[in-house]
Amino acid sequence: MMLINGTASTQLDARDRGLHYGDGVFTTLRVRDGTAALWEQHAARMQSGCRQLGIALPDTAQLHAEAQQVCAGATRGVLKMLITRGAGGRGYAPPRASTPTRMVALYPWPEFPATHWREGVAVRVNTMRLARNPQLAGIKHLNRLEQVLARAEWDDADIAEGLMLDDAHQVIEATAANIFVVRDGALLTPQLHECGVAGVMRAEIMRLSQLSGQPVQECALSLDDVRGADEMFLTNSVIGVWPVRKLDTLAKPVGPRTQAIAAMLEQSCPAYA
Ligand SMILES: Cc1ncc(COP(=O)(O)O)c(C=O)c1O
Repeated sequence: MMLINGTASTQLDARDRGLHYGDGVFTTLRVRDGTAALWEQHAARMQSGCRQLGIALPDTAQLHAEAQQVCAGATRGVLKMLITRGAGGRGYAPPRASTPTRMVALYPWPEFPATHWREGVAVRVNTMRLARNPQLAGIKHLNRLEQVLARAEWDDADIAEGLMLDDAHQVIEATAANIFVVRDGALLTPQLHECGVAGVMRAEIMRLSQLSGQPVQECALSLDDVRGADEMFLTNSVIGVWPVRKLDTLAKPVGPRTQAIAAMLEQSCPAYA
């Protein structure tokens, strides 16, 4: 089911700036038993993205009511929420007054193999590079051509994800997930001050790790750093945690830190069990 501005529909005004310029933000959430997991964190990130783009802040109570409406009765699914600056005329200049567009939609659960969580996934290194732009870094905005073209680089069902490096050759994230590595006992994740999406699940893993007394360090990571890591895992709000068992031809063990993090997430948020 899809709601556009609260009405069941799949039709959008063709003048919408989300379509013309990617002028908006979105987020995707895991749905279990009619409830969207980590709702507050997703609503807060949408609000902060809108604030950064100068889009009128969505009424989160209204969004929540619409999310509940589309998720009602769904055992499993993926909730997507999207806010654009709304309809506009021709040209980039944002209209002085525009009414943001809201889209709230429930999609079927993607039937990933259970082995993705238990035994880990195979990952490649994408050729497409992320451009650095500190003013847009972290925001889950609608400009996603880098990810679309990166995802078009492979069509092998055995490869679940691809690493994204930036144009300075630093590892930033995966096509649709953030990455963590364990090296010499330390849990590390790429810093995202120049590009990349600041994932809700990334923040949740960092929060839980901090609580457990083993805080995550954000740092620069080269491909060699990642290749040399003892453990590696991917996170996003739909999958939770996927251990990485292979990076190109390099095998990685599913290590104890990764398993401990996944177990912590399951405990604190049963939707990820
Ligand atoms: C490019 C990109 N990075 C990171 C993430 C992880 O974000 P989240 O944890 O909020 O789902 C996603 C999620 O789809 C993504 O598309």
